[in-house]
Amino acid sequence: MTERLDLAGRRLVLALSGGIACYKSAELLRLMVKAGAEVHVVMTAGAQRFITAETMQALSGHPVATDIWDARTADLMPHIHLTRDADAILIAPASADAIAALAQGRADDLLSLLCLARPWGVGAQPVPLLIAPAMNREMWAHPATQRNVAQVQSDGAQVLGVGSGLQACGEVGEGRMLEPEAILDELIAALSPKPLRGRRVLITAGPTFEAMDPVRGITNLSSGKMGFALARAAWEAGAEVRLVAGPVHVPTPQGVGRVHVQSAEQMLAAVMQEVVQLGPGDVFIATAAVADWRPATLATQKIKKERRGDDTPSNVPSLVMVENPDILASVAALPVPPYCVGFAAESEKLLEHARAKLVRKKVPLIVANLGPATFGRDDNAVLLVDAERAQPLPADGTPTDKLTLARALVAEVARRLPGSRSQ
Ligand code: C5P
Repeated sequence: MTERLDLAGRRLVLALSGGIACYKSAELLRLMVKAGAEVHVVMTAGAQRFITAETMQALSGHPVATDIWDARTADLMPHIHLTRDADAILIAPASADAIAALAQGRADDLLSLLCLARPWGVGAQPVPLLIAPAMNREMWAHPATQRNVAQVQSDGAQVLGVGSGLQACGEVGEGRMLEPEAILDELIAALSPKPLRGRRVLITAGPTFEAMDPVRGITNLSSGKMGFALARAAWEAGAEVRLVAGPVHVPTPQGVGRVHVQSAEQMLAAVMQEVVQLGPGDVFIATAAVADWRPATLATQKIKKERRGDDTPSNVPSLVMVENPDILASVAALPVPPYCVGFAAESEKLLEHARAKLVRKKVPLIVANLGPATFGRDDNAVLLVDAERAQPLPADGTPTDKLTLARALVAEVARRLPGSRSQ
């Protein structure tokens, strides 16, 4: 499988202000470059007390800009050259002082100067400004900092969240810089088209686990990867995303709210609780491999193996099963359902089975794939089936990684929504 280059062709500015989180910015830079971006680094004097400009030059492959009066720029205008054809500016870490400088519109160091000088909306296409704050918890919670954060947001910057936990100073609380992977995901999302802006998307993912006693149960081989990729793609597309997931080992995507469940009945209850937030312009995507049946009874204690005196087994249990609720059909049957998308994992006759499912579950769109070929894998190819036509995705039918596929699928779903402008 070819590596995805989510930032290919992007020209980005990574600006570092002073803070111990600077050591993480080296890793962030490496991730940005690995994702295909051309990155130009700017460092304040404070940042250079924590890591060297040489480190960032070596990782970016470009000289690091540190000074308004940089003699290497013939016209002494690094703030103009750095910002005019940038796709985004990212400040990570953004210290309390750097944020205060932006809030005041100061321009006495290269970082604040280039943020003020960036195209922001009057003339040229605005250059997005992302800010990843990093500071001690008292500094972060201080009304002055919160006032400054609100100010830079209302001036058009996107302020990312902060992490919570043990801080370099030994105190515990909110104010840590987000991890480099999370910042990278935020950056990719900030540069993505937003066909789902203002919409809510609810997704089920993973297998269910149907218990027979406190330590045993029945499950399946669904990894949850497709549902989690869809959650990420929908978030990138601007939706507010909730993910109801069975037991899986996939990290929750950045920006996505997750509910953990085990059984089909718990999944249904969680979905019904979430779905009340959704209107007809919102989306429900059922990717979960819900167990069709569950054991009819749940033993309260572990079922013990018993033996007769001659060591022959005396209690081999026989499983009596009952049918599980159909979550997708239940949502589709609501008086005002969201736009419902189902998945069909088949082993043959994809189109025929998908059409039958479309009718039986009363949903407008089924995503059909070959089950054994996709479970647990990182790539996939699907067939989108609606009442009129069937469309392979990717168009040439060649399997692609699940996030690329999820992004294409989200674009297709967005195009079909009532009131969509991406028709
Ligand atoms: O009926 P079948 O399991 O083949 O249908 C698959 C689709 O229905 C998937 O979208 C799956 O998430 C959903 N489904 C469900 N609840 C069930 C069974 C399937 O939501 N009990």
